[in-house]
Amino acid sequence: MARPRVLSGVQPTGALHLGNWLGAIRNWVGLQDSHDTFFCVVDLHAITVPHDPARLAEDTLTTAALYLACGIDPQRSTVFVQSHVAAHSELCWLLNCVTPLNWLERMIQFKEKAVKQGDNVSAGLLDYPVLMAADILLYDADLVPVGEDQKQHLELARDIAQQRINSRFGSEEAPLLRVPEPLILQDGARVMSLTDGRSKMSKSDPNEGSRITLLDPPELVTRKIKRAKTDPTMGLEFGNPERPEADNLLGLYAVLSGLGREAATAQCASMGWGTFKPLLAETVVEALRPVQERYRDLRSDPSQLQQVLELGRERAEAVASTTLQRLRDALGFYPRS
Ligand code: AMP
Ligand code: TRP
Repeated sequence: MARPRVLSGVQPTGALHLGNWLGAIRNWVGLQDSHDTFFCVVDLHAITVPHDPARLAEDTLTTAALYLACGIDPQRSTVFVQSHVAAHSELCWLLNCVTPLNWLERMIQFKEKAVKQGDNVSAGLLDYPVLMAADILLYDADLVPVGEDQKQHLELARDIAQQRINSRFGSEEAPLLRVPEPLILQDGARVMSLTDGRSKMSKSDPNEGSRITLLDPPELVTRKIKRAKTDPTMGLEFGNPERPEADNLLGLYAVLSGLGREAATAQCASMGWGTFKPLLAETVVEALRPVQERYRDLRSDPSQLQQVLELGRERAEAVASTTLQRLRDALGFYPRS
């Protein structure tokens, strides 16, 4: 029996933060033994909002290096750059032509991002979830580990595969595309901003103090946690809707200390913020230390990373081109010789 296939990706837009790590990448690491894992750096997604061409390549390498530094093993996983495999763009076009416009217009992330772009909303931003569907469907992925915010995009990929491709162009016995399932682990699925416990930690928040990136040096981590928003109540707790900051920071402590929610609650239930914050800062710094060490090693030898991405591209292309051919045939294109 073939192992179930997993595919996921993160955009190379600035350094990854704790939300990306705990909500996404950390979950990828544990899947490598039991699943056939594909992880891409989704650089085509990164240009759906205005970007700086002078940074794209560098950010792509940083993101790939962080995958490896977080524990993705290129022997067991296929690690590649989305734009290196042209089939992503091509399948995206084929899927575009069967995806109803109103499915895209109701995507929450599109609506949120569009507001931020003002008059400058690209067609690519609207199309973002179709490209994401192409990423997933090209590899016949069974499972897609993502943070909670991506659930709606996963639903869309399922609907495109099932209702627009399989049921129209395939047959009951031989579905053309595999319909993927989201994999959302609860712990760390939503890491919130340090400056507002009601909004999610995000790369695009203009306030750098709202997030901790995986490459923040220890002093900076400590400073950001020191300044993080708190409330006047003593003691840390989960689940109090009046205290989103307490919930978020205790959650980070529970995951990164390895204690889990119950033991963390027991330890911190009557702790004041003045005691808790230094404890959290130390825990975050210690959790990031090995990641940062591995990252520095990887970036000191560019050829190693280059080799990983080259091998990844070859493996990815082999799978992607087969799926794309299947789709071209089913849609009735005149075959190239
Ligand atoms: P993005 O930074 O939007 O490219 O997201 C990359 C991955 O990280 C996706 O799987 C997201 O679901 C996940 N992610 C992003 N921000 C958070 C957050 N604040 N909490 C948990 N997961 C997140
Ligand atoms: N849209 C995802 C995000 O912002 C990134 C992404 C692009 C992705 N393609 C994907 C995630 C395919 C999983 C699978 O997080």
